[in-house]
Amino acid sequence: MKAKILVTGGAGYIGSHTTVELQKAGYDVVVLDNLSNSNADVIDGIERITGIRPAFEKIDMQDKEALRNLFEKHKGIKGVINFAASKAVGESVKKPLLYYRNNLVTMLNLLDLMPQYGVEALVFSSSCTVYGQPDILPVDESAPIKPALSPYGNTKQICEEIITDTIHAGAPFKSILLRYFNPIGAHPSAEIGELPLGTPQNLLPYITQTAIGVREELSVFGDDYDTPDGSCIRDYINVVDLAQAHVKAIERMLGNKSEEPVEIFNLGTGKGVSVLELIHTFEEATGVKLRYKIAGRREGDITQVWADPQKANTVLGWKAETSLADTLKSAWNWQLHLREKGIM
Ligand code: NAD
Ligand code: WQD
Repeated sequence: MKAKILVTGGAGYIGSHTTVELQKAGYDVVVLDNLSNSNADVIDGIERITGIRPAFEKIDMQDKEALRNLFEKHKGIKGVINFAASKAVGESVKKPLLYYRNNLVTMLNLLDLMPQYGVEALVFSSSCTVYGQPDILPVDESAPIKPALSPYGNTKQICEEIITDTIHAGAPFKSILLRYFNPIGAHPSAEIGELPLGTPQNLLPYITQTAIGVREELSVFGDDYDTPDGSCIRDYINVVDLAQAHVKAIERMLGNKSEEPVEIFNLGTGKGVSVLELIHTFEEATGVKLRYKIAGRREGDITQVWADPQKANTVLGWKAETSLADTLKSAWNWQLHLREKGIM
């Protein structure tokens, strides 16, 4: 068995897929989650895929003593992957204090306790949102950070700074900041996937819920952007591919291969896909026709962004492998699984 890794927010969308990949790579995983945006059944799904049930602690990471008790109980944690955060952009505009409190206090508690328990490595879930609308595309890690468009986006920038300042001040651990582009899809087993509460804000869950009839029609937010077909362009990254990058990041830090105490990597495919292209690829890949209409632009959307993933490819040794068609099929299979289970 390799090192013990704490996955905070491990019952969530990306955390659950990462737990599976860590277990497959031989790590001993402890999952922490307060289940504010997830369900304990996810742990069963993880066990069905890997045959290993991860230790699970239902803890709110804002509660520092509860977090301390976790480190006391699970002695010898070597690495932490910090997914726990609130992540709805629109909600963060309406409830900024909730977002600043949850996303920052959890991070501060973790950074305080890690040195006391000998944790050597921290992976942080950051976002391409820190680049805003980049001046140069594809965007690489040296691009300037733009003023955040939402309190959520601001928490990602602030957490990156807090981690960097803490390590530069001599904290005895390393960190890798991973800037995700747009994670989509589900595990190919359809045992775990994305389960948004209420009306989905993100494109792909809205597509699959429309395709299955939970939503009447998808609104395409704008077809008058300065892009080839007028709809916005993003870099959609398969969630299992994304999860595997976290394993690479942990291996890099615990294997003493980091070149700097804080390293940053873009996690994307390097290919921009428009909303209309995504819809048509979904229809071709699944054979399901989608009802959609062109609606007005959504406030706060940037026109286009896609990654330069060269640094992740060459330095981290990670590359997005799954085709967009396979990724969209996995999302559809997950939606069908939810229907079979009577969940949606
Ligand atoms: P998610 O909501 O599915 O997972 C986050 C998990 O953290 C949830 O299970 C939630 O219950 C838990 N959580 C929240 N606050 C907590 C707290 N105080 N204590 C304990 N658990 C808590 O979200 P996700 O899509 O899996 O995102 C994971 C991380 O990646 C987040 O930090 C998010 O900001 C970041 N990220 C996500 C995306 C995306 O598009 N999904 C893109 C870039 C970055
Ligand atoms: C993708 C495209 C929409 C819904 C957000 C956060 C970002 C990151 C990922 C965490 C856009 C269009 C969407 C719909 C549509 N999260 N769309 N109809 O906005 O790129 O990024 O999630 O860090 O911070 O801002 O993702 O999935 O919401 O939208 O036309 O019903 O789909 O306009 O062009 P986005 P998204």
